[in-house]
Amino acid sequence: MSKLYKLAIIGFGNVGQGLAKILSDKHTLLNERFGVDIRIVAVCDLYKGSVADSDGLDPKMLLNSLEVEGNLKSLPAQHTTWNAQETIDNSGADILIELAYTDLKTGQPALSHVKQALNNGMHVSMTNKGPVALAFPELRDIAKKNNVQIGIEGTVMSGTPSLALGNEMLLAAGITKIQGILNGTTNYILGEMAAGLDYQVALTQAQALGYAEADPTGDVDGHDAAAKVVILGNLFMDLALTLADIDCSGISHISAADIAKASAQNKQWKLIGTVAKTATGFIASVKPEMVSKDHPLASILGATNAITYSTELLGDITLIGPGAGRLETGYAVIEDILSIHKNS
Ligand code: HSE
Repeated sequence: MSKLYKLAIIGFGNVGQGLAKILSDKHTLLNERFGVDIRIVAVCDLYKGSVADSDGLDPKMLLNSLEVEGNLKSLPAQHTTWNAQETIDNSGADILIELAYTDLKTGQPALSHVKQALNNGMHVSMTNKGPVALAFPELRDIAKKNNVQIGIEGTVMSGTPSLALGNEMLLAAGITKIQGILNGTTNYILGEMAAGLDYQVALTQAQALGYAEADPTGDVDGHDAAAKVVILGNLFMDLALTLADIDCSGISHISAADIAKASAQNKQWKLIGTVAKTATGFIASVKPEMVSKDHPLASILGATNAITYSTELLGDITLIGPGAGRLETGYAVIEDILSIHKNS
């Protein structure tokens, strides 16, 4: 007998659509292999419309409506006017899937959505980095008080299980340093520029491929990677970092001449995030660096990311995998739901 999980999805952009596609393709597998019957009962998107139905919404129909109509507004459903707050309060969902746009300054509106859901006794899965980078300890306390769980796997390296690896396998080995390529958009742009493409064209392509944030400034200025450094440092190194603690510079100032200079030296630009413990405290940074072409990170191309955990007991462990993308990030929500199921 499968356990039913009803999802309310706030925000139906790239990640929400990726999740719907996975649910449409893999529902039977998830049901039969893992004992979870996952149903969408509400989708609320500021621009695309709001639909809620306690009998469930067919993910294929949601995607089809977007493709044909460009929105969800003419789909038949029991409720078609709920805003985010009403959706959280009234949909009867067990899990809030918070995928609204990321705001790294206030975390809003996602932060309020998440608190409301946790206080209502709902589990939460979010790929939104704002609330996690700004307020995770507080959210964890609220979740504990309400006996529910928060899944955040998709906030770092999309569905590549970087947080599960750190949390479940490496934490006890003593993590002393974490370093890697933590933003897919900038890695894609730097690679395309090295192949001769103009910066703006490469950025437009990264947007079309679903890698970039709704406002790509967060990617190219390094703030998205900085939020991931904050999340990693706080989760695994007992730090209390904020974005202001990260020595951060992005890639928007890198010119064609800089790219040519790296190439002439047989090097490649990479945006590298680092957090490490030191004798006096910590270092935490996001910076573009020229790495030689035989450096392990030089071969990480496109929207692929890589993370190296340096540990006391195992030395360095590196995980390489997708860092962005519709299905890749949508899959992180599936990982969260399976983890919620396992730990319930
Ligand atoms: N915009 C982000 C990136 C998405 O390019 O890595 C995943 O966090």
